[in-house]
Amino acid sequence: MKHFLDIHETSPSDLRGIIDNAAAMKTARADRPRGALDDDQPLQGHMVALIFEKPSTRTRVSFDVGVRQLGGQTMVLSGKDMQLGHGETIADTARVLSRYVDLIMIRTFEEQTLLEMAEYATVPVINGLTDRTHPCQIMADIMTFEEHNGPIKGKKVVWSGDGNNVFASFAHAAKQFDFELVFTGPPPLDPDPALADLFTIERDPNIAVQGADLVVTDTWVSMHDPQSARERRHNQLRGYQVNDTLMAQAKPDALFMHCLPAHRDDEVTSSVMDGPHSVIWDEAENRMHAQKAIMRYCLGK
Ligand code: CP
Ligand code: NVA
Repeated sequence: MKHFLDIHETSPSDLRGIIDNAAAMKTARADRPRGALDDDQPLQGHMVALIFEKPSTRTRVSFDVGVRQLGGQTMVLSGKDMQLGHGETIADTARVLSRYVDLIMIRTFEEQTLLEMAEYATVPVINGLTDRTHPCQIMADIMTFEEHNGPIKGKKVVWSGDGNNVFASFAHAAKQFDFELVFTGPPPLDPDPALADLFTIERDPNIAVQGADLVVTDTWVSMHDPQSARERRHNQLRGYQVNDTLMAQAKPDALFMHCLPAHRDDEVTSSVMDGPHSVIWDEAENRMHAQKAIMRYCLGK
């Protein structure tokens, strides 16, 4: 049994195996109806709990559909409707759920909640986003990059905007997959200093994107950020919007990614989202393929 808690806690060879398996499963399903089961049914007889303490569209649906394609069943649980949201400890919740289900995916606030769930669960636990990281997203992003432009090793990835949880998982991935990562954003919104060895900072977005193979951004206000910070963050981040002028300075075949949901014409213009560099819909689809491979890895199947 293996957990999937963070990219830097999974070995490069295991990460590569997951990406390759995800790509193979995607190819095997090409041209089949969305609802069709996979030929391989490794989750048959398995029950997966999907716990959400924050909103979700992609994570919820992609895990749910992915489990079903692999022959398993799911139970989608909202944190506030569980005793977990009313005082029961995470450890006790983990022990109880482990008697009913074969795998737990949790989206939560503090990283400590995820870590405690993993410590006390006797079944694998998958990180479906915390305030600090979003590893499943970045596995889908690596898969998407390689599907379009080949191996990511040695490539230049530029993140423009807030140094948030999605950025942190990109930073972990930069080391494990051996690519260059440049952060461009305002100093107050710099990433966690603990990640400093994993990327470089260039304050001028126009300089940062030169020679970029991939340009990435994310919302300026994450789910864990106070709404009261909205206006200040918008003012700080306005100069880091990904627009046509910025994309034009990246490599001609550069890709644009965003984990979504996007705020059109804030962090990215509609012209970039819907333009020739954008691979955001493939990126969203690949969440499902990547997570199917992550679940197989966790269950040793
Ligand atoms: N990218 C992502 O995790 O989207 P959701 O919040 O819709 O799950
Ligand atoms: N950084 C965003 C990602 C959403 C998928 C958030 O945490 O709200």
